[in-house]
Amino acid sequence: MAHSEGVPPPFGIYVHVPFCATRCGYCDFNTYTASELAGDASSPDGWLDAARREIALAARTVGDRTVQTVFVGGGTPSLIGADRLSAVMAAVRSEFRVAAYCEVTTESNPESTSPEFFAGILDGGYTRVSLGMQSAARHVLAVLDRTHTPGRAVAAAREARAAGFGRVNLDLIYATPGETDDDLRRSADAVLDAGADHVSAYALIVEDGTALHRRVRRGELPAPDDDVAATRYELLDARLQAAGLHWYEVSNWSLPGAECRHNLGYWRDGDWWGVGPGAHSHLAGVRWWNVKHPARWAGKLAAGESPEGGREDLTADERYTERVMLRLRLAEGMALDQLDPAARSAAGRAADEGLLEPVGYAAGRAVLTDRGRLLADRVVTDLLLAQERDANHGVATGRPVLPGGA
Ligand SMILES: C[S@@+](CC[C@H](N)C(=O)[O-])C[C@H]1O[C@@H](n2cnc3c(N)ncnc32)[C@H](O)[C@@H]1O
Ligand code: SF4
Repeated sequence: MAHSEGVPPPFGIYVHVPFCATRCGYCDFNTYTASELAGDASSPDGWLDAARREIALAARTVGDRTVQTVFVGGGTPSLIGADRLSAVMAAVRSEFRVAAYCEVTTESNPESTSPEFFAGILDGGYTRVSLGMQSAARHVLAVLDRTHTPGRAVAAAREARAAGFGRVNLDLIYATPGETDDDLRRSADAVLDAGADHVSAYALIVEDGTALHRRVRRGELPAPDDDVAATRYELLDARLQAAGLHWYEVSNWSLPGAECRHNLGYWRDGDWWGVGPGAHSHLAGVRWWNVKHPARWAGKLAAGESPEGGREDLTADERYTERVMLRLRLAEGMALDQLDPAARSAAGRAADEGLLEPVGYAAGRAVLTDRGRLLADRVVTDLLLAQERDANHGVATGRPVLPGGA
């Protein structure tokens, strides 16, 4: 939904913890193992010091905004322990007004959690835990370089629930080379057994520059297959929906009311401040990002400087492109009157092809069908290219312009 005139969009804080015990072969996030970092400014305590400084800087800069959601992500936030995670929340509370019901999530890796850890972060004000499970199959975890056993993620989710967390997400990765349909069925069952109220599941992406990319290039592993990924998506979706977890974003399912409000803020054009090395922020159409290396980021804050590494003012066209890309992936879809005329015609064609819901379309909304979800990227591209084709008098000039020049 568009924000009404004068009503500010929801405001959230993202906090990036750039530490991992080991690097998973598929991951290209801004994260470092202990041996890759040297010097105090990159230690967990140095990081916490700098994070406190940036939280204070954020409060001075954004002024009177109420924090509705906080998401501490990584990297591996659980690696810095419950006391430091609680100190992050204490800093947010001392610098900002925080909503009475503020969703406060931390990502955690199964192997660096325990019942004491969960009790500690619950005390520290966290309301939601997101655990990286990835798969219930040992041989799939091995391909992904995960260091935990299949059972540890389920046990960690149960420990979080026993500690008092009602809100627990498990992350899955599907279509990993070597995974079978049965492996994914077992992963879905394990997630449901663990009592998760939310699941995020992404097909394995082979990111440039990762160890996985090198293994695929050398022919040691086959590249993930798009058709297999589509079948696995359908399998997982059917399993989760049968258990009452509805899809609310193409790659996210939850029990009713357990949607991640922080991520919805990103997808619905909300405002957020990203604290931490390499973190991205967005306020009223301006986007900026911090310098990437933890030591440089902490050094700038210690010197009283902004840790910003770059920024861009999004043009109206870029904001439109981003809105279509993100909102169309939501189950609520987007109002047809937010599309330009050429994209509205393309939406009509997509509805005729069975990619958009006919009832929603008749009621003025573009909402993906089950088949449309499998082809979500194509639907988005068709809508955006229709706009470009219109601007170029009928000649499409290539792929849509993505924000940030991606
Ligand atoms: C950056 S991780 C942070 C959480 C935590 N460190 C962990 O690994 O569980 C967030 C999630 O992104 C997903 N992810 C990261 N890289 C991916 C890739 N190349 N393909 C698919 N999913 C990926 C994984 O499911 C992971 O749990
Ligand atoms: S997937 Fe998670 S644990 Fe693995 S390297 Fe990336 S951030 Fe670290």
